[in-house]
Amino acid sequence: MHRSILSSNPDSAPYCRWRDAKLAAQPARPEQFLIDIADPLKLTADERKSLQYPLQHYRFVIFRTRKPAAVDKNTLRELGLQFGLTTLDGNLCADDDQISSLRVFDHGRGNAYIPYSNKPLSWHTDGYYNPASQRIHSLILYCVQDAAEGGDNQIMDHEMAYIQLREHKPLLASALEQPDALTIPANIENGEQIRSATVGPVFFLSPQDGQLYMRYSARERNIVWKDDPLVREAVKELKKMMHPDNPYVYQYRLKPGEGLLSANILHRRLGFADTDAQQRLMFRARYFEALKLAES
Ligand SMILES: [Fe+2]
Repeated sequence: MHRSILSSNPDSAPYCRWRDAKLAAQPARPEQFLIDIADPLKLTADERKSLQYPLQHYRFVIFRTRKPAAVDKNTLRELGLQFGLTTLDGNLCADDDQISSLRVFDHGRGNAYIPYSNKPLSWHTDGYYNPASQRIHSLILYCVQDAAEGGDNQIMDHEMAYIQLREHKPLLASALEQPDALTIPANIENGEQIRSATVGPVFFLSPQDGQLYMRYSARERNIVWKDDPLVREAVKELKKMMHPDNPYVYQYRLKPGEGLLSANILHRRLGFADTDAQQRLMFRARYFEALKLAES
């Protein structure tokens, strides 16, 4: 991307070209998201090519490994490395190796955070509360064990959300490009500040790869939207768009051995139920680097 596609560029030609190419590449069938890989430790040239297309055009892909029993956190780390992903963001609840094991926690700090419960998780991009220097550009979510019931993900390419919003009303896209559109207040736990407040845009072009990314959470607590009527209208419109009726919202339930590799697209998780015999376990790896894709 050589010229900015954002609405701040008075020349809208780059945006129109990008939008038209993007819409033309949208999948005819959701199965186009699902790519089989034999060994995540070492992708073949063909597998790499198959993964590349959806990553480029939909900003995510679902991979299916043939030998799930052989996949551990190290396998995922190696898979990430093949896309230039080297620096993991270990958040407060990540395991010592910086990759989180998402499952229902009964004790400890995890208990206070919805990802570590069986509750539904509303629409968001990962690390929306991170400072600008630590934006999450890429995300791997891998299913070790699915829940006895529920736990599906809904996903939406944030680039499609941007296009839909801008086509609906260009001023709404501009409103969410403002550098102070969304503030996440400081995180204070037991009187101690463990993260300072972060202020930033919702939609932005990353200096890393020039691509569009999104900071977003549909949560209502601990989220401060800019006091601006256009921002309020845009947020309302986004909420309407992130609905299963939208043809660009996909629902998928990852099965053991399957994973989502993405440019930190919009996603949410439905609630789920575990049984003694079957307990949901996902590995999650968040990276500061953007996916390195071959030029095509
Ligand atoms: Fe997430």
